[in-house]
Amino acid sequence: MFPSSYRIRDLLIEPNLVLAPMEGVTDLMFRRLVRSIGGVGMTTTEFIAGEALRRGVARAEMMARFDPDENPVAIQIYGAKASSMAEAARAIQDAGAHVVDLNYGCPSKKVCAHSGGSSLLREPVLAREIVRAVRAAVTIPLTVKMRCGFDAHQRNAPLVARMCEEEGVESLVLHWRTRADLYGGTRAVDKIAETKSRVKIPVIGNGDIVDVASAEAMFRDTGVDGLMIGRGAIKNPWIFKQLRAHFAGLPEVVVDAAEKHRVLLIYFDSLRGEFRNDHGVLGRMKKIANYFTHGLPYGSDLRLAFLRSQNIDEAIGHTNRYFGWLAEEESRRERPFSLQSPQPKNLPAGADQTAAWAAERLAPVQGPPLSPSPFPPS
Ligand SMILES: Cc1cc2nc3c(=O)[nH]c(=O)nc-3n(C[C@H](O)[C@H](O)[C@H](O)COP(=O)(O)O)c2cc1C
Repeated sequence: MFPSSYRIRDLLIEPNLVLAPMEGVTDLMFRRLVRSIGGVGMTTTEFIAGEALRRGVARAEMMARFDPDENPVAIQIYGAKASSMAEAARAIQDAGAHVVDLNYGCPSKKVCAHSGGSSLLREPVLAREIVRAVRAAVTIPLTVKMRCGFDAHQRNAPLVARMCEEEGVESLVLHWRTRADLYGGTRAVDKIAETKSRVKIPVIGNGDIVDVASAEAMFRDTGVDGLMIGRGAIKNPWIFKQLRAHFAGLPEVVVDAAEKHRVLLIYFDSLRGEFRNDHGVLGRMKKIANYFTHGLPYGSDLRLAFLRSQNIDEAIGHTNRYFGWLAEEESRRERPFSLQSPQPKNLPAGADQTAAWAAERLAPVQGPPLSPSPFPPS
Protein backbone atom coordinates (compact mmCIF):
# COMPACT_ATOMS: atom_id res chain seq x y z
CA MET A 1 0.00 0.00 0.00
CA PHE A 2 2.81 2.42 0.88
CA PRO A 3 6.24 2.50 -0.80
CA SER A 4 8.99 0.56 0.97
CA SER A 5 12.04 2.02 -0.75
CA TYR A 6 13.19 4.86 -2.96
CA ARG A 7 16.23 5.70 -5.03
CA ILE A 8 18.44 8.75 -4.95
CA ARG A 9 19.75 8.31 -8.50
CA ASP A 10 21.14 4.74 -8.30
CA LEU A 11 21.40 4.67 -4.52
CA LEU A 12 18.72 2.41 -3.09
CA ILE A 13 17.24 3.53 0.24
CA GLU A 14 15.56 0.48 1.67
CA PRO A 15 13.66 0.58 3.88
CA ASN A 16 12.60 4.15 3.13
CA LEU A 17 13.09 5.19 6.75
CA VAL A 18 15.79 7.76 7.38
CA LEU A 19 17.37 8.94 10.62
CA ALA A 20 17.09 12.75 10.80
CA PRO A 21 20.10 14.99 11.36
CA MET A 22 20.12 16.20 14.96
CA GLU A 23 22.77 18.47 16.37
CA GLY A 24 24.26 17.07 19.55
CA VAL A 25 22.50 13.74 19.01
CA THR A 26 23.19 11.99 15.69
CA ASP A 27 26.92 11.69 16.12
CA LEU A 28 28.73 8.47 15.28
CA MET A 29 27.79 6.88 18.62
CA PHE A 30 24.07 7.49 18.28
CA ARG A 31 24.05 6.40 14.66
CA ARG A 32 25.81 3.19 15.67
CA LEU A 33 23.13 2.61 18.29
CA VAL A 34 20.33 3.04 15.77
CA ARG A 35 22.07 0.90 13.16
CA SER A 36 22.76 -1.85 15.68
CA ILE A 37 19.02 -2.11 16.27
CA GLY A 38 18.23 -2.08 12.56
CA GLY A 39 15.44 -1.02 10.24
CA VAL A 40 17.00 2.27 9.21
CA GLY A 41 17.52 2.82 5.49
CA MET A 42 19.88 5.79 5.72
CA THR A 43 21.52 7.76 8.51
CA THR A 44 22.38 11.46 8.58
CA THR A 45 25.05 13.28 10.55
CA GLU A 46 24.26 16.32 12.67
CA PHE A 47 24.71 19.56 10.73
CA ILE A 48 28.27 20.72 10.20
CA ALA A 49 29.36 24.25 9.30
CA GLY A 50 30.52 24.15 5.69
CA GLU A 51 33.09 26.81 6.43
CA ALA A 52 34.61 24.77 9.28
CA LEU A 53 34.77 21.65 7.15
CA ARG A 54 36.37 23.59 4.32
CA ARG A 55 39.07 24.85 6.68
CA GLY A 56 39.65 21.36 8.03
CA VAL A 57 38.69 22.26 11.62
CA ALA A 58 39.25 19.12 13.67
CA ARG A 59 35.83 19.22 15.37
CA ALA A 60 34.03 19.53 12.03
CA GLU A 61 35.99 16.58 10.65
CA MET A 62 35.10 14.58 13.77
CA MET A 63 31.44 15.33 13.18
CA ALA A 64 31.70 14.15 9.57
CA ARG A 65 33.14 10.73 10.53
CA PHE A 66 31.23 7.61 9.59
CA ASP A 67 31.81 3.87 9.84
CA PRO A 68 33.08 1.99 6.78
CA ASP A 69 29.90 -0.11 6.80
CA GLU A 70 27.58 2.84 7.40
CA ASN A 71 26.10 2.77 3.96
CA PRO A 72 24.40 4.93 2.88
CA VAL A 73 25.15 7.89 5.09
CA ALA A 74 24.36 11.54 4.35
CA ILE A 75 26.65 14.26 5.66
CA GLN A 76 24.75 17.47 6.29
CA ILE A 77 26.33 20.89 5.92
CA TYR A 78 25.02 24.40 6.46
CA GLY A 79 26.23 27.85 5.54
CA ALA A 80 25.54 30.81 3.33
CA LYS A 81 28.74 31.06 1.34
CA ALA A 82 28.43 29.09 -1.87
CA SER A 83 32.16 28.63 -2.42
CA SER A 84 32.71 27.30 1.14
CA MET A 85 29.75 24.97 0.82
CA ALA A 86 31.12 23.66 -2.47
CA GLU A 87 34.56 23.02 -0.98
CA ALA A 88 33.04 21.33 2.05
CA ALA A 89 30.96 19.11 -0.22
CA ARG A 90 34.06 18.13 -2.14
CA ALA A 91 35.79 17.16 1.11
CA ILE A 92 32.77 15.03 1.97
CA GLN A 93 32.92 13.30 -1.39
CA ASP A 94 36.68 12.75 -1.04
CA ALA A 95 36.07 11.14 2.35
CA GLY A 96 33.89 8.54 0.63
CA ALA A 97 30.47 9.59 1.92
CA HIS A 98 27.48 8.64 -0.18
CA VAL A 99 25.29 11.74 -0.01
CA VAL A 100 25.79 15.45 0.62
CA ASP A 101 22.79 17.05 2.30
CA LEU A 102 22.24 20.81 2.49
CA ASN A 103 20.49 22.30 5.49
CA TYR A 104 17.77 24.77 4.44
CA GLY A 105 15.74 24.19 7.57
CA CYS A 106 17.62 25.10 10.72
CA PRO A 107 15.61 27.71 12.66
CA SER A 108 18.37 28.73 15.07
CA LYS A 109 19.08 32.45 15.35
CA LYS A 110 22.82 31.84 15.08
CA VAL A 111 22.52 30.01 11.76
CA CYS A 112 19.79 32.27 10.34
CA ALA A 113 21.70 35.43 11.29
CA HIS A 114 24.32 34.40 8.76
CA SER A 115 21.67 33.62 6.13
CA GLY A 116 22.05 29.88 6.58
CA GLY A 117 19.49 27.19 7.39
CA SER A 118 15.85 28.18 7.07
CA SER A 119 16.61 31.82 6.27
CA LEU A 120 17.56 30.56 2.78
CA LEU A 121 13.85 29.96 2.22
CA ARG A 122 13.40 33.71 1.89
CA GLU A 123 16.59 34.26 -0.06
CA PRO A 124 15.88 32.41 -3.31
CA VAL A 125 18.83 33.83 -5.21
CA LEU A 126 21.34 32.77 -2.59
CA ALA A 127 19.57 29.43 -2.10
CA ARG A 128 19.97 28.72 -5.80
CA GLU A 129 23.57 29.91 -5.86
CA ILE A 130 24.54 27.50 -3.08
CA VAL A 131 22.82 24.52 -4.66
CA ARG A 132 24.38 25.30 -8.01
CA ALA A 133 27.90 25.65 -6.59
CA VAL A 134 27.65 22.43 -4.60
CA ARG A 135 26.18 20.55 -7.55
CA ALA A 136 29.07 21.65 -9.74
CA ALA A 137 31.57 20.56 -7.09
CA VAL A 138 30.48 16.95 -6.50
CA THR A 139 29.30 13.94 -8.44
CA ILE A 140 27.78 12.06 -5.49
CA PRO A 141 24.04 12.43 -4.81
CA LEU A 142 22.94 15.80 -3.49
CA THR A 143 19.90 16.28 -1.27
CA VAL A 144 18.30 19.23 0.55
CA LYS A 145 16.39 19.25 3.81
CA MET A 146 14.04 22.16 4.43
CA ARG A 147 11.05 23.40 6.33
CA CYS A 148 7.78 24.15 4.51
CA GLY A 149 8.48 27.85 4.60
CA PHE A 150 9.82 30.71 6.63
CA ASP A 151 6.54 31.66 8.27
CA ALA A 152 2.78 31.35 7.74
CA HIS A 153 2.89 34.01 5.00
CA GLN A 154 5.76 32.41 3.17
CA ARG A 155 5.12 28.69 2.86
CA ASN A 156 7.11 28.41 -0.33
CA ALA A 157 8.62 24.93 -0.09
CA PRO A 158 7.11 23.79 -3.42
CA LEU A 159 8.81 26.67 -5.23
CA VAL A 160 12.14 26.14 -3.53
CA ALA A 161 11.82 22.43 -4.24
CA ARG A 162 11.31 23.09 -7.96
CA MET A 163 14.38 25.30 -7.95
CA CYS A 164 16.40 22.57 -6.23
CA GLU A 165 15.27 20.00 -8.76
CA GLU A 166 16.20 22.27 -11.67
CA GLU A 167 19.67 22.68 -10.19
CA GLY A 168 20.28 18.96 -9.87
CA VAL A 169 19.21 18.11 -6.31
CA GLU A 170 18.21 14.46 -6.27
CA SER A 171 15.96 14.12 -3.24
CA LEU A 172 14.29 16.44 -0.73
CA VAL A 173 13.25 16.17 2.88
CA LEU A 174 10.38 18.38 3.99
CA HIS A 175 9.63 19.08 7.63
CA TRP A 176 6.00 20.28 7.80
CA ARG A 177 6.77 23.19 10.16
CA THR A 178 7.81 26.68 9.10
CA ARG A 179 10.75 28.42 10.67
CA ALA A 180 8.34 30.53 12.72
CA ASP A 181 6.74 27.37 14.11
CA LEU A 182 10.08 26.35 15.64
CA TYR A 183 8.97 23.05 17.25
CA GLY A 184 5.32 23.99 17.85
CA GLY A 185 2.53 24.81 15.42
CA THR A 186 -0.41 22.77 14.24
CA ARG A 187 0.29 19.86 11.95
CA ALA A 188 -0.16 20.96 8.33
CA VAL A 189 1.34 18.66 5.72
CA ASP A 190 -0.32 20.25 2.68
CA LYS A 191 2.94 21.76 1.41
CA ILE A 192 4.64 18.39 1.58
CA ALA A 193 1.83 16.92 -0.54
CA GLU A 194 1.98 19.84 -2.96
CA THR A 195 5.75 19.53 -3.32
CA LYS A 196 5.44 15.81 -3.95
CA SER A 197 3.00 16.51 -6.77
CA ARG A 198 5.26 19.15 -8.33
CA VAL A 199 8.66 17.44 -8.48
CA LYS A 200 9.89 14.15 -9.92
CA ILE A 201 12.66 13.52 -7.41
CA PRO A 202 11.85 11.59 -4.22
CA VAL A 203 10.27 13.62 -1.43
CA ILE A 204 10.65 12.48 2.16
CA GLY A 205 8.18 13.56 4.85
CA ASN A 206 9.35 14.69 8.28
CA GLY A 207 7.83 15.97 11.50
CA ASP A 208 6.32 14.19 14.52
CA ILE A 209 6.53 10.66 13.20
CA VAL A 210 6.64 8.64 16.38
CA ASP A 211 4.72 5.45 15.74
CA VAL A 212 2.75 3.42 13.21
CA ALA A 213 -0.22 5.78 13.21
CA SER A 214 1.82 8.90 12.54
CA ALA A 215 3.97 7.10 9.95
CA GLU A 216 0.92 5.87 8.05
CA ALA A 217 -0.66 9.31 8.25
CA MET A 218 2.40 10.95 6.69
CA PHE A 219 2.34 8.50 3.77
CA ARG A 220 -1.41 8.73 3.37
CA ASP A 221 -1.74 12.51 3.64
CA THR A 222 1.18 13.43 1.39
CA GLY A 223 2.10 10.54 -0.91
CA VAL A 224 5.77 10.88 0.06
CA ASP A 225 8.39 8.33 -0.96
CA GLY A 226 9.84 7.86 2.50
CA LEU A 227 9.92 9.07 6.08
CA MET A 228 12.54 10.85 8.13
CA ILE A 229 12.43 10.46 11.90
CA GLY A 230 14.19 12.59 14.49
CA ARG A 231 12.96 12.93 18.05
CA GLY A 232 10.88 9.77 17.71
CA ALA A 233 14.16 7.88 17.29
CA ILE A 234 15.72 9.34 20.44
CA LYS A 235 12.64 8.36 22.42
CA ASN A 236 12.50 5.00 20.78
CA PRO A 237 15.51 3.89 18.69
CA TRP A 238 13.52 0.74 17.78
CA ILE A 239 11.06 2.81 15.77
CA PHE A 240 12.71 2.01 12.44
CA LYS A 241 12.63 -1.71 13.13
CA GLN A 242 9.04 -1.47 14.34
CA LEU A 243 7.88 0.47 11.29
CA ARG A 244 9.73 -1.75 8.87
CA ALA A 245 8.13 -4.83 10.45
CA HIS A 246 4.71 -3.20 10.34
CA PHE A 247 4.93 -2.16 6.69
CA ALA A 248 6.36 -5.54 5.67
CA GLY A 249 3.53 -7.35 7.47
CA LEU A 250 5.96 -8.98 9.91
CA PRO A 251 5.21 -9.64 13.60
CA GLU A 252 5.16 -6.58 15.83
CA VAL A 253 8.54 -5.69 17.36
CA VAL A 254 7.91 -5.49 21.09
CA VAL A 255 10.63 -3.94 23.23
CA ASP A 256 10.70 -4.84 26.89
CA ALA A 257 12.42 -3.18 29.83
CA ALA A 258 15.41 -5.53 29.69
CA GLU A 259 16.08 -4.62 26.06
CA LYS A 260 15.72 -0.90 26.74
CA HIS A 261 18.08 -1.22 29.70
CA ARG A 262 20.63 -3.22 27.71
CA VAL A 263 20.73 -0.79 24.81
CA LEU A 264 20.92 2.28 27.02
CA LEU A 265 23.89 0.87 28.95
CA ILE A 266 25.73 -0.03 25.75
CA TYR A 267 25.14 3.47 24.45
CA PHE A 268 26.33 5.09 27.69
CA ASP A 269 29.44 2.95 27.60
CA SER A 270 30.17 3.96 24.02
CA LEU A 271 30.18 7.63 25.06
CA ARG A 272 33.07 7.21 27.47
CA GLY A 273 35.67 7.07 24.73
CA GLU A 274 34.20 9.96 22.79
CA PHE A 275 34.25 12.90 25.15
CA ARG A 276 37.32 14.57 26.59
CA ASN A 277 35.95 14.41 30.13
CA ASP A 278 33.23 12.87 32.27
CA HIS A 279 31.31 16.11 32.26
CA GLY A 280 30.74 15.78 28.49
CA VAL A 281 29.68 12.13 28.84
CA LEU A 282 27.25 12.94 31.63
CA GLY A 283 25.77 15.84 29.66
CA ARG A 284 25.08 13.63 26.67
CA MET A 285 23.67 10.85 28.89
CA LYS A 286 21.26 13.35 30.42
CA LYS A 287 20.18 14.63 27.03
CA ILE A 288 19.40 11.19 25.64
CA ALA A 289 17.79 9.95 28.87
CA ASN A 290 15.53 12.97 28.79
CA TYR A 291 13.94 11.79 25.54
CA PHE A 292 14.26 8.06 26.15
CA THR A 293 12.17 8.11 29.31
CA HIS A 294 9.22 10.09 27.92
CA GLY A 295 6.01 8.12 28.12
CA LEU A 296 7.41 5.47 30.45
CA PRO A 297 5.76 5.07 33.87
CA TYR A 298 7.45 7.40 36.35
CA GLY A 299 9.76 8.43 33.51
CA SER A 300 9.72 11.96 34.91
CA ASP A 301 11.10 10.69 38.22
CA LEU A 302 13.98 9.04 36.39
CA ARG A 303 14.58 12.22 34.41
CA LEU A 304 14.77 14.23 37.60
CA ALA A 305 17.12 11.75 39.26
CA PHE A 306 19.26 11.83 36.14
CA LEU A 307 19.37 15.61 36.05
CA ARG A 308 20.53 15.69 39.64
CA SER A 309 23.28 13.10 39.07
CA GLN A 310 26.72 14.45 39.85
CA ASN A 311 28.67 11.77 38.04
CA ILE A 312 28.40 8.95 35.52
CA ASP A 313 28.23 6.14 38.09
CA GLU A 314 25.37 7.82 39.90
CA ALA A 315 23.43 8.18 36.62
CA ILE A 316 24.07 4.54 35.73
CA GLY A 317 22.91 3.54 39.22
CA HIS A 318 19.61 5.34 38.59
CA THR A 319 19.29 3.64 35.21
CA ASN A 320 19.78 0.20 36.77
CA ARG A 321 17.33 0.92 39.55
CA TYR A 322 14.66 2.23 37.19
CA PHE A 323 14.84 -0.52 34.60
CA GLY A 324 14.98 -3.18 37.32
CA TRP A 325 11.74 -1.72 38.67
CA LEU A 326 10.24 -1.55 35.17
CA ALA A 327 11.09 -5.20 34.47
CA GLU A 328 9.27 -6.17 37.70
CA GLU A 329 6.24 -4.17 36.65
CA GLU A 330 6.24 -5.73 33.21
CA SER A 331 6.42 -9.23 34.65
CA ARG A 332 2.93 -8.59 36.09
CA ARG A 333 1.48 -7.52 32.73
CA GLU A 334 0.66 -9.06 29.39
CA ARG A 335 2.84 -6.75 27.35
CA PRO A 336 5.69 -4.33 27.98
CA PHE A 337 5.10 -0.64 28.31
CA SER A 338 5.42 0.87 24.89
CA LEU A 339 4.86 4.13 23.09
CA GLN A 340 3.96 2.32 19.93
CA SER A 341 0.28 2.22 19.10
CA PRO A 342 -0.90 -1.37 19.02
CA GLN A 343 -3.35 -0.58 16.22
CA PRO A 344 -2.90 2.08 13.52
CA LYS A 345 -5.59 4.72 13.86
CA ASN A 346 -7.84 5.37 10.91
CA LEU A 347 -8.71 8.94 11.49
CA PRO A 348 -11.22 10.72 9.28
CA ALA A 349 -9.73 13.37 6.97
CA GLY A 350 -9.49 16.70 8.72
CA ALA A 351 -9.58 15.23 12.23
CA ASP A 352 -7.19 16.81 14.68
CA GLN A 353 -4.67 14.04 14.38
CA THR A 354 -2.14 15.59 16.70
CA ALA A 355 -4.66 15.64 19.52
CA ALA A 356 -5.77 12.11 18.75
CA TRP A 357 -2.22 10.79 18.86
CA ALA A 358 -1.51 12.65 22.06
CA ALA A 359 -4.62 11.15 23.64
CA GLU A 360 -3.55 7.73 22.49
CA ARG A 361 -0.11 8.09 23.97
CA LEU A 362 -1.51 9.28 27.25
CA ALA A 363 -3.92 6.35 27.43
CA PRO A 364 -3.86 4.74 30.88
CA VAL A 365 -1.45 1.86 31.30
CA GLN A 366 -3.20 -1.50 30.99
CA GLY A 367 -2.99 -4.03 33.81
CA PRO A 368 -2.69 -3.88 37.60
CA PRO A 369 -2.01 -0.54 39.29
CA LEU A 370 1.58 0.61 39.21
CA SER A 371 3.77 -0.02 42.25
CA PRO A 372 5.14 3.12 43.89
CA SER A 373 7.81 5.02 42.02
CA PRO A 374 11.35 3.62 42.25
CA PHE A 375 12.38 7.16 43.17
CA PRO A 376 10.28 8.05 46.22
CA PRO A 377 10.35 11.75 47.18
CA SER A 378 13.12 12.39 49.70
C1 LIG B 1 18.01 18.17 19.15
C2 LIG B 1 17.70 18.45 17.69
C3 LIG B 1 18.71 18.80 16.85
C4 LIG B 1 18.45 19.05 15.48
N1 LIG B 1 19.49 19.31 14.64
C5 LIG B 1 19.24 19.40 13.29
C6 LIG B 1 20.33 19.50 12.37
O1 LIG B 1 21.51 19.50 12.74
N2 LIG B 1 20.01 19.59 11.04
C7 LIG B 1 18.71 19.59 10.59
O2 LIG B 1 18.47 19.67 9.37
N3 LIG B 1 17.69 19.46 11.45
C8 LIG B 1 17.93 19.35 12.76
N4 LIG B 1 16.89 19.14 13.63
C9 LIG B 1 15.52 18.97 13.08
C10 LIG B 1 15.23 17.49 12.83
O3 LIG B 1 16.09 16.94 11.86
C11 LIG B 1 13.77 17.30 12.35
O4 LIG B 1 13.58 17.98 11.15
C12 LIG B 1 12.76 17.82 13.38
O5 LIG B 1 13.12 17.45 14.69
C13 LIG B 1 11.36 17.30 13.06
O6 LIG B 1 11.35 15.91 13.01
P1 LIG B 1 10.90 14.99 14.27
O7 LIG B 1 9.55 15.46 14.69
O8 LIG B 1 10.92 13.60 13.74
O9 LIG B 1 11.90 15.23 15.36
C14 LIG B 1 17.13 18.94 14.98
C15 LIG B 1 16.11 18.59 15.87
C16 LIG B 1 16.38 18.34 17.20
C17 LIG B 1 15.25 17.94 18.11
